[in-house]
Amino acid sequence: EENGMSASSSMSTSLLTKTKPFPIRGERANYVNTPHVIVMVGLPARGKTYMAKKLTRYLNWIGIKTKVFNLGEYRRRATHMYKNHNFFRSDNEEAMALRERCAMDALDDVCDWLDNSGGEVAVFDATNTTMHRRRLIYNIIVEKMEYKLFYVESICDDPSIIEANIREVKVNSPDYRGMTSEEALEDFLQRIEHYMEQYQPLDEALEDHLSFMKVYNTGQKVVVHKHEGHIQARIVYYLMNTHVTPRTIYLARHGESAYNQMGKIGGDSDLSERGRKFGNALAEYIKEQKIPKLRVWTSWMKRTIQTAEGIDAPQERWKALNEIDAGICEEMTYAEIKTKFPEDFAARDQNKFSYRYPRGESYEDLVARLEPVIMELERQGNVLLIAHQAVLRCLLAYFLDKPSDELAYIEVPLHNVIKLTPVAYGCEVEYISLNVECVNTHRPRPEVGCKKIQSPIPCALSLQQNSC
Ligand code: ADP
Ligand code: F6P
Ligand code: PEP
Repeated sequence: EENGMSASSSMSTSLLTKTKPFPIRGERANYVNTPHVIVMVGLPARGKTYMAKKLTRYLNWIGIKTKVFNLGEYRRRATHMYKNHNFFRSDNEEAMALRERCAMDALDDVCDWLDNSGGEVAVFDATNTTMHRRRLIYNIIVEKMEYKLFYVESICDDPSIIEANIREVKVNSPDYRGMTSEEALEDFLQRIEHYMEQYQPLDEALEDHLSFMKVYNTGQKVVVHKHEGHIQARIVYYLMNTHVTPRTIYLARHGESAYNQMGKIGGDSDLSERGRKFGNALAEYIKEQKIPKLRVWTSWMKRTIQTAEGIDAPQERWKALNEIDAGICEEMTYAEIKTKFPEDFAARDQNKFSYRYPRGESYEDLVARLEPVIMELERQGNVLLIAHQAVLRCLLAYFLDKPSDELAYIEVPLHNVIKLTPVAYGCEVEYISLNVECVNTHRPRPEVGCKKIQSPIPCALSLQQNSC
C-alpha cells in the first residue's frame, strides 16, 4: 500500500501532505484503500451516463461510497448559451473554453468529495473524447492527487442503437426544452458530428500508461488495458455482465406461511391455506402474462418452493436466496425477542442494517450473500424470483437505488408481485396485489417520542403525521 512508506525527513513536504490518513474502517465487507476516479469516454449517446449511474448504484449497494459527477449538469448550471448544436463546434472557442472550465470545476468537486467527504469512488461522466482532456484529468487525478484512475470508453457504431438512445433519453434533456422530438433528434445527431471531427479513442500505444476498458456495441466485445487492483477488476466484471436487452424482473415473497400467521420469524414452515391460494393465483398470473423464456428462482426453503409449485417454467433453487438468519432469535415472535433479548431488540432498532443477530446475519451480511444473485440477474432475461421479506428488501434497494438506512424498512407485502421494468437510467416499479388475504409482517421503523429513529423525515413533519 502506498501509505506504507514511513515519513522520513528526506521526504518532500508535498508528498507528506498528500499522504492522507484514511479513516479506520469497521468490519465492512468492501472498502477502498485509495480513492478511485472512473472517467467515462465516448461520443454522445453511447450509454456513458447509463453505465455511470448503474455502476454507481451497484458500488453503493455493495457498500462503496460512490457518486457521479455529470459534466452536462455543470455546463447547464454555468451557462444558458446552449441554443443548438453549434455550441459543440470545435471552432466555437468561447464554448470550448467554458466547457474546459466546467470540466475543471467538476474535477475540483470530485477531489473535494474524495478528500473531505468520505467519498471512495467518483465517476466523472463527460465525453472526454480528446487526448488533451484526458491529459488534464491525468495531471490532476494521478499526478497531483495520487488517486487511482480508470477510464471506461463506450464505442458504438450501430446507427439504430444510437438513434434509439437519443429517442429514449436525449430528446427529454433540458437542452431541448420546447423542441419536438424530431427537432431534438436532428440537433443531437449534428452535435455528434461535431464531436466526431475531434474524437480520439483511447489509444493503447499513445496512452499506454493509462488503465482503461473499452466496451464495443453494448458489450459485444470488451478490451481491458492495464487494470489495477480489485475495484477495477470488479468494475470490469460488473460492466461485462450487464446488458441492455429489454426484459422484466418479477419479485414475490412466498405465500403466507404457518409461521407468518403465528408472527414467528425465520424457520422453515409450510404455506398456510391462504399461502397455497396465493401460489395458485401467482401461477395463474404468470400464465396470463405469457412471458417469453421465463425462469423461476426460489430459495431452498419449503415456503418458496411450495409457492412456485404450479408455475409452468424452468426453476432453479438458490441457497443464497434463503431468508436472513436470525440466529438465536430464529422461530420467535418479535414480542418474545423483546422479552428474552431486550438489549438485542433495542440494538436492532438503533441500526437495523448493520445489526447482526448473535449466531446469525445482518442486512449487511445479506447484501454480501446476494451479490452473486444480482450479478446473475444482470446476465439473465425475464426472471420471476420468489424469496423472503429481508432478501427482497436487499434486492429492491439495488434496483431502486435505496440507501442502506432505508433498506431494512422497504415495504414488501405478502401476496403481491413486484414488477421491475428497466427504463432510461433506472427501473420502473409496480406492485400488483393478487387479492389473497394475508397477515402483515412489516414491522415499521419504531419511534422515539415524536421522532422516528434514523428518520429522514424532519420532526415537524412526523409531528404532523403522527399527531403526537
Ligand atoms: P451518453 O451519456 O453516452 O450521452 P446515455 O447514457 O445518456 O448516453 O444513453 C442512454 C442509452 O444508452 C440508454 O438507452 C441505454 O440503453 C444505452 N446504452 C447503455 N449502455 C450502452 C452501451 N454500452 N453502448 C451503447 N448504448 C448503451
Ligand atoms: O416475518 C417474516 C420474515 O421473513 C422473517 O423470517 C424475517 O426474520 C423477517 O421477516 C425479516 O424482517 P425484519 O428484518 O423486518 O425483521
Ligand atoms: C456536455 O457539456 O454535455 C458535455 C458532456 O461536455 P464535454 O463534451 O465537454 O465533456
